[in-house]
Amino acid sequence: MKRVLSGIQPSGQLTLGNYIGAIQNFVKLQETHECYFMVVDLHAITVPQEPAALREQTESVAALFIAAGIDPAKASVFAQSHVPAHAELGWLFTTLSYMGELERMTQFKDKSSGKESVGTGLFVYPTLMAADILLYNADLVPVGDDQKQHLELTRDLAQRFNQRFGDTFTIPDPYIPKVGARIMSLDDGTKKMSKSNPNPGSYIALLDPPDVIRKKISRATTDSGREVRFDPAEKPEVSNLMSIYAHCADMTLDDIAARYDGQGYGAFKKDLAEHVVAKLEPLQRRYADIRGSGEIHDILKRGAEQVSAVANETLRAAKERMGFLLPR
Ligand code: TYM
Repeated sequence: MKRVLSGIQPSGQLTLGNYIGAIQNFVKLQETHECYFMVVDLHAITVPQEPAALREQTESVAALFIAAGIDPAKASVFAQSHVPAHAELGWLFTTLSYMGELERMTQFKDKSSGKESVGTGLFVYPTLMAADILLYNADLVPVGDDQKQHLELTRDLAQRFNQRFGDTFTIPDPYIPKVGARIMSLDDGTKKMSKSNPNPGSYIALLDPPDVIRKKISRATTDSGREVRFDPAEKPEVSNLMSIYAHCADMTLDDIAARYDGQGYGAFKKDLAEHVVAKLEPLQRRYADIRGSGEIHDILKRGAEQVSAVANETLRAAKERMGFLLPR
């Protein structure tokens, strides 16, 4: 059975972008693949985190995985920091990477631009991500469009290791949705919807209450026209809202365009809000139950136990090939 691995950072509220771009595919893939889904807390600290908030968010993201439909009986759900092999293999890959290739990463450029001092962790972030994926010899990595470049670097690092030290790592492929790989911000159709945007009106958080969702969608930027038409170049905002609609209502873009033909944006936005509310309502209910039960700690503990043997064996093989004297 092919292996799937992905991760989400516990840094801020998860958004509809995370759900449509990544989590929805996690839920689908668990039926047909051996799946590893991780809360990447070691990545979250590449920007400063309040300790109490990091703990809360780590638990919250794990609970959202389950609430969204990931079944811990089918997929391993764990926290990255519970499996120390991630940090160790991450270091090995850091030593195989070049400044130039890390400097080219657009996520690094975005997060560091205009800052007076930039953390080293942010710079070497992709080498830890490569370790996450290669540690399990994952075949497929479901992610949104913004992680494509990190995946390419992961493939390069795996190939570099294999060439230098002998065949060790599987070269993974990205798994990116055709529609919804890049859900855009509600206030600017040229920017990605992001949990780190300081304006909460720019994103829909998975845990936003229904009235907040309605308000955010009614205020979402559109354009001066009135045609509900999918045209990302000419109509980025409306096209983005149509992508969200398509996912939440399970309709095609053509059907949506036909339904609102000649009606302007008012009715379209009102219905869109109701579809988003209906999509998130069961998830929010399950989330409240899971957090209330405290079971997430057991799920994470079991998850880390399940994956550790695979992780430790890959790390051992990598260290042996690199020439480390292994303890006997
Ligand atoms: P993160 O935490 O920023 O985002 C988690 C996942 O959500 C996707 N995503 C989006 N998809 C569509 N539209 C959007 N607006 C949107 N915003 C976010 C991301 O592409 C991602 O799939 N580096 C990763 C975390 C990571 C990881 C890994 C992923 C660490 N190790 C190993 C895969 C495999 C990140 O920052 O994702």
